[in-house]
Amino acid sequence: MHTARLCGLLLFRVLDMCRCQGNRTKMKVLGIETSCDETAAAVVEDGRRILSNVVASQIDIHARYGGVVPEVASRQHLLTIIPVIEQAMRDVDWRDIDGIAVTFGPGLAGSLLVGVNIAKAVALARKLPLIGVNHLESHIYANWLESPSAGDSGSVDFPCLCLIVSGGHSDLVLMKGHGRYEKLGRTRDDAAGEAFDKAARILGLGYPGGPAIERAASSGTPSLSLPRAWLRNSHDFSFSGLKTALWHLVDKGGVSVPDAAASFQTAVIEVLVAKTVEAARQSGVRQILLSGGVAANKSLTARFVAKSPVPVLIPPSHLCTDNAAMVAACGYYHLRAGASSGYDLDVVSSLSIG
Ligand code: KG4
Ligand code: ZN
Repeated sequence: MHTARLCGLLLFRVLDMCRCQGNRTKMKVLGIETSCDETAAAVVEDGRRILSNVVASQIDIHARYGGVVPEVASRQHLLTIIPVIEQAMRDVDWRDIDGIAVTFGPGLAGSLLVGVNIAKAVALARKLPLIGVNHLESHIYANWLESPSAGDSGSVDFPCLCLIVSGGHSDLVLMKGHGRYEKLGRTRDDAAGEAFDKAARILGLGYPGGPAIERAASSGTPSLSLPRAWLRNSHDFSFSGLKTALWHLVDKGGVSVPDAAASFQTAVIEVLVAKTVEAARQSGVRQILLSGGVAANKSLTARFVAKSPVPVLIPPSHLCTDNAAMVAACGYYHLRAGASSGYDLDVVSSLSIG
């Protein structure tokens, strides 16, 4: 009797182990992202293979206001989150999901709350681990996602230097391994994406500014004289002086919009590339990893590739801007390391990295 019970227990352990073994090689994570103006859900296998990636953008709604309206954003997330998750899960069996990863900060508190609460509900209903993910860290993990257009993306070599350039952040982070970060630099005022958005408004190009400036710049020449904030002996950035200088130029009148866009874009890119390359040389990293919406800019990536002494990994444009595949990829590495969050997970709108 005693032996039979022991055998039974052993069998359970083995079955459990086999299940874990199976999960370890094919672990599927559902990622949820609602930090700003994209409602997104995605399923990623083993932190690399995208099985589904759904992004419902609110850009058209916010464009009429010239920027993201927080109240409108959270209400829109509420309306779209369930259909977005359902679409991401359309061809995936819920029983195959091993964890729910969700962005809990930084971002708009009301928007983050929608994602975090739906993630808790799903994790509870399906009895799955919940993993709160830092949005900035998840941007970096876009570099792990498999993509035929991303060159050698996925073969990340530590230590690497991560430049995160989004609408809210411009961070230069030394990454020594999974979850091991040291912040080397940050913006002292406007983020790079924010600067693009403000410059586009000054030039009457609409929202979001990055793609609009890039489009206008393609038919202009960078002939206008604009300042660059080098902030010598620091890896920090500053873009607000450049924005003000552009405003003064435009205010005087007679400025060609394509030339102004090209001059502004060149100034931002020169500083981002030179300072990142300098930090890469000083820290002796093996690679530079680009991420965040501004990394979708083709002139920026071309200059990085031309100037960097080490290989530069660049996610495809649709994985640079906000998405949930990067959240799922990041969550996978946390889950693999044995980390998970409790149901008391709260949003942290000013969360930072490193
Ligand atoms: O990472 P992201 O999608 O959202 C945040 O976490 O903020 O980044 C959005 C930012 C916006 O400021 C947008 O203007 C900028 O990325 N952006 C670009 C480009 N595409 C998006 N900036 C420059 N060139 C682009 N092609
Ligand atoms: Zn982002």
